[in-house]
Amino acid sequence: MEKLKLVVKTSFGLEDILLRELTDLGAQKAEKGIRVVTVEGDQRLMYKINLCSRVALRVLQPVKKFRVGNEQQLYDEIKKIDWSKYMSVDGTLAVDAVVNKSVMTHSLYVALKTKDAIVDQFRDNTGKRPNVDLVRPSLRIHLHINGEDAEVSLDSSGDSLHKRGYRMQTGDAPINEALAAGLILLSEWDRKSPFLDFMCGSGTILIEAAMMALNIAPGSLRKEFGFQRWNDFNEKLWSEVKAEAAAAQKSEIDFPITGVDLNTMMITYAKENAEAAKVLKYITFKQMSFDDYVPDSAPGIILINPPYGGRITTGDILALYKSMGDQFKKKYPGWKGFVFTANMEAGKNIGLKPSRKIPLFNGKLECRLLKFEMYAGTKRQSDVQV
Ligand SMILES: C[S@@+](CC[C@H](N)C(=O)[O-])C[C@H]1O[C@@H](n2cnc3c(N)ncnc32)[C@H](O)[C@@H]1O
Repeated sequence: MEKLKLVVKTSFGLEDILLRELTDLGAQKAEKGIRVVTVEGDQRLMYKINLCSRVALRVLQPVKKFRVGNEQQLYDEIKKIDWSKYMSVDGTLAVDAVVNKSVMTHSLYVALKTKDAIVDQFRDNTGKRPNVDLVRPSLRIHLHINGEDAEVSLDSSGDSLHKRGYRMQTGDAPINEALAAGLILLSEWDRKSPFLDFMCGSGTILIEAAMMALNIAPGSLRKEFGFQRWNDFNEKLWSEVKAEAAAAQKSEIDFPITGVDLNTMMITYAKENAEAAKVLKYITFKQMSFDDYVPDSAPGIILINPPYGGRITTGDILALYKSMGDQFKKKYPGWKGFVFTANMEAGKNIGLKPSRKIPLFNGKLECRLLKFEMYAGTKRQSDVQV
């Protein structure tokens, strides 16, 4: 099989997790960048990453690197690539562009110029032009410009990989599926001890945890990936990759995964989403305040994404975070608690000293994943402020 360089995108802070995942999937020569890991592999690996990576957002296959100083040079360089290798004139295309530190500041204009060069090449050669389809193109092209360095790639994922296909309903502030999986992987949960989210909202963290414990490939519910519309799509290979993943799935777990939320509607959404993800029977949902919830299992992991509050931190938010800390201290000896928040002022009100503070982003919001260890017995966690 032909050797390919693959550029795998992720969220800031999850690069190490992605690197480990890719190496486990068989990638060679993995190299980490910011929000990206580059690997060497082949078509099988590209299919596997799309199907099995929990934290990847896109898998790009680079086509060409070049230097570029202005729009005309960009147009000329794009036109030099033989696009008939990758799509037919009857196909459709879409171009995404990311531009950093360049004289060309408008990513939309850069994308348009790239599209024009491709369309013009087809028109010059065949007299016909392919159409643009921004939603479901036969070929999604990704252009990355950093200063004068440009790289054009084919996007093998299509829709971002965080869109697993199970989320029917969300509340106001859901976290995306790949980020939820990343938080769980950062928690180093062993996938065999109890898992609790006592502010579970629409259930994303719990569903990702259940899929992880059952070894369900995160992409197994998706209807389609970009590479399935490529000229070189290898249906037999794709079936093999899917069958391999399905064979590794488990059907039972022997520990509880529990979700609690105060809001009745959120519990309904969480159940619907869990059902769509085929993991409803592995998760127990309870509609109540976490203050009233009493854990009834051996210690495990608590992972929560509490409300961050608005621009101004209110007394209510501070009280909520204090209450979380009180519950940690009172009811969870031996557990490890992880709190994912953008509100560091409120985070301090938890009243426990975090043993780790991992910087991440939730969309554009800078966040931290705070780790708290609630010791059982003699080695007690003291009530210190952060
Ligand atoms: C930011 S949302 C969680 C979103 C969730 N991670 C998701 O992906 O949908 C915070 C949740 O905390 C819940 N909540 C707020 N106060 C609570 C309390 N005292 N007990 C339990 N849940 C509470 C809210 O109802 C809301 O669903």
